[in-house]
Amino acid sequence: MENIRNFCIIAHIDHGKSTLADRLLEFTKTVGERDMHDQVLDSMDLEQERGITIKSHAIQMDYLHEGNAFKLNLIDTPGHVDFSYEVSRSIAACEGALLIIDATQGIQAQTISNLYLAIEHDLEIIPVLNKMDLPNAMPEAVEEQIIDLIGCDHEDIIHASGKTGEGVEKILEQIIHKIPAPKGDPEAPLQALIFDSVFNSFRGIIAYFKITNGQIRKKDLVKFVATKKEYYADEVGVLKLGLEPKDVLGPGDVGYIISGIKTAKEVKVGDTITHVKNPCEIAIDGFEEVKPMVFAGVYPIDAEDYEELRYAMDKLQLNDASLTFEPESSAALGFGFRCGFLGMLHMEIIQERLDREFDMNVITTVPNVSYKAHLTDGSTITVYNPSGMPASTTIQEIDEPYIRANIITASEFIGPVMNLCLDKRGELISQNYLTAERAELVFNIPLGEIVFDFYDKLKSISKGYASFDYHMNGYKPAKLVRLDILLNGEMVDALSTLIHFDNATSFGRRMCEKLKELIPRQQFDIAIQAAIGAKIIARETVKAVRKDVTAKCYGGDITRKRKLLEKQKKGKKRMKQVGNVEVPQKAFLAVLKLD
Ligand code: GTP
Repeated sequence: MENIRNFCIIAHIDHGKSTLADRLLEFTKTVGERDMHDQVLDSMDLEQERGITIKSHAIQMDYLHEGNAFKLNLIDTPGHVDFSYEVSRSIAACEGALLIIDATQGIQAQTISNLYLAIEHDLEIIPVLNKMDLPNAMPEAVEEQIIDLIGCDHEDIIHASGKTGEGVEKILEQIIHKIPAPKGDPEAPLQALIFDSVFNSFRGIIAYFKITNGQIRKKDLVKFVATKKEYYADEVGVLKLGLEPKDVLGPGDVGYIISGIKTAKEVKVGDTITHVKNPCEIAIDGFEEVKPMVFAGVYPIDAEDYEELRYAMDKLQLNDASLTFEPESSAALGFGFRCGFLGMLHMEIIQERLDREFDMNVITTVPNVSYKAHLTDGSTITVYNPSGMPASTTIQEIDEPYIRANIITASEFIGPVMNLCLDKRGELISQNYLTAERAELVFNIPLGEIVFDFYDKLKSISKGYASFDYHMNGYKPAKLVRLDILLNGEMVDALSTLIHFDNATSFGRRMCEKLKELIPRQQFDIAIQAAIGAKIIARETVKAVRKDVTAKCYGGDITRKRKLLEKQKKGKKRMKQVGNVEVPQKAFLAVLKLD
């Protein structure tokens, strides 16, 4: 145990976490030159292409330091707010953290919130100033920020570069000297924290854990506390570049277990593994069920592909337990699924995987959050779809989810950032200057207001000089109303939205105007109306086309006529028939395009 060091890396996206990890793996010869390719840790295709870490990983390095052999376990963490629970569990499995900060950028929102998590878990922090090879590095200014934040000395901050390898040896030295060895009692009942799991098509689910007490051996009968399921440990071992089986693992060890588990749902991040005989009395603290935060309808473009879509969703869920879905039908879109995602990036990833791994062509409706509706009969229901909100006469109160948003921005953009947050019904909690040029703003904002365009707007008003991170912060009552859209008197369920009462009229008007632009003229007039309950609050009309499309084909040129009809038919494929009106798919996302 004295020669084990468990650490993670805290960094904002693109500050160079994966690159620096690669250098550590090279330096300790964990990865031979032959196997070295950029970002070894990012194993999923999509991760490599997008250059972001989606899942956590772990890898053990052997390092000989002053004649002593050390085992260094690097637990890599996902770098995006959607996956912050996984980050918190990875942090809980470590005794120390490398705090990596891009010397050209300085501290960003993601860095701060994960750093606070690490400090909460009493991790030893090793500050590293990365990308020192770049000419625009500003070591002095960024060092001041780091000192302000964690109260270290200048000498404690390591200058490094994932590009040149500068500082890598120093980092390893500090990991050994500063990070405490894990503690734990090998004789105590087994307690191991699951911090991640991956799906392997040959071996099923592989769960990654860190042992806090006790020992685990091959063939042991173990129990997962939260799910109450029991399994035989078919194989246990440590994580090198591949899996390395071992007979026994003890306190402080980071390892894996394979036990015939078929689906990701059975293994919950944050759960505790113990023995069936002689179990631990209490589970490791901090377990939470991760809940989806953002919901959207996913429909096949071709109605015939529904079963195929279900198959694809089932497959995706095997290795991504945070994806939820249930069948849903929409009068406008037919049969599909209402899916739950951890956040917007997660939703995009699923959409991309459906396309890439299953060749599924889907249409996704506008994302929304979940609401709690307290009804006049005293019951409370959770609503995942605006069109599922009961009639306003039966509702006593609607509660919506809030987030606590941390935004770090250059001082010159404070005004516009404030306005954006206030516009999104945010409440300012605090504002403090990190340096004369940079400030941290903390807001309480309804999650529903940020799900679609908040992040894009923040980036554009700050010219990219603002970073953003958030955490869920409970529910609060809101004056929300359901706004429906009617086409020629018929309600289109897929276009309903829940909107704050004060904004409803202007929103309804803008929706009608946008739809008028997006819905092509047809043989008859189309009335577009926005309504709250029975009350119509806005109206536009798409005027009928007078000419027949084929009319301009003079005379009997049949091939030309056919071509035109074919063209029209193709155009139709991307249309949905709603009542007697044809609605193009992009109209279902109209709300995202409002000015
Ligand atoms: P996420 O996985 O998204 O959190 O990103 P990351 O923090 O792992 O960043 P990554 O290692 O992917 O690096 C981001 C970009 O910075 C890449 O284009 C790297 O090539 C580049 N980069 C990383 N470290 C250095 C460095 O020390 N110097 C220079 N010049 N570029 C670097």
